[in-house]
Amino acid sequence: MIEVKNLSKSFGDTQILFDVSSKFEAGRVNLIIGASGQGKSVLTKCIVGLHEPDEGSVIYDGRDFSAMGRKDRIEVRKEIGMLFQGSALFDSMTVEENVSFPLKLFTKMSKEEIRDRANFCLKRVNIIDKNELLPAETSGGMQKRIAIARAIAMNPKYLFCDEPNSGLDPKTSILIDNLIKEITYEYNMTTIVITHDMNSVMEIGDHIIFINQGRNWWEGDNNEILRTENKEVVDFVYASSFMKNLRDKMINN
Ligand SMILES: Nc1ncnc2c1ncn2[C@@H]1O[C@H](COP(=O)(O)OP(=O)(O)O)[C@@H](O)[C@H]1O
Ligand SMILES: [Mg+2]
Repeated sequence: MIEVKNLSKSFGDTQILFDVSSKFEAGRVNLIIGASGQGKSVLTKCIVGLHEPDEGSVIYDGRDFSAMGRKDRIEVRKEIGMLFQGSALFDSMTVEENVSFPLKLFTKMSKEEIRDRANFCLKRVNIIDKNELLPAETSGGMQKRIAIARAIAMNPKYLFCDEPNSGLDPKTSILIDNLIKEITYEYNMTTIVITHDMNSVMEIGDHIIFINQGRNWWEGDNNEILRTENKEVVDFVYASSFMKNLRDKMINN
């Protein structure tokens, strides 16, 4: 479980996050949702230590990450898998080299063990016989799956995905969402997914926090989000005409 307690963050005179608290449990897909520019990425970067919060703390399974020195943080960092916006694969490395990269960097595994582990992870995301290709030689959906394979290579306890569906078609998005959900349950990971995709919210939202104006504005699951009367959440959920139609149908029946 990751616990965020009273997190605040400013850049210069501009405060971005205001006293954000929440708990993200293991074996669940936790979503951070909200419109653009509300602070989702900044919050996530504070959680993983890419930004230093001004106030508050982040606790990884009882370990106070915020209070740790560099060395201890590196140990926690090894337990974190990350999937950033875009696929962020290394262009000049092959598919297999990309997935092997964290293993080479952070473990003492032998070449053979690394190859086996990379192949295991690639197989898990259904990428087979693509080891020697460069990322650019594969499709966008494949690149995302390769990035997932790399993110799970170290067998992480925690998985962060920032807009995993950006740039993907709807069908591929569903595939990626389901893959994230499956591996979360399979490995009992604490998964945090940032998204503004309502499809993802409905498909995989076990626990959702809605960030608005840098605050934890609303919290619940994907059943509750359809029933809330919180104005900003309703505006977000029903921004698409598809969802509006769905709501009208629900109300008329
Ligand atoms: N490194 C930074 N320095 C200054 N301002 C930033 C920085 N990163 C993000 N911001 C600002 O913080 C706000 C929230 O950004 P962000 O968390 O990226 O939003 P989103 O919810 O779309 O992920 C935006 O106004 C953005 O311009
Ligand atoms: Mg963002």
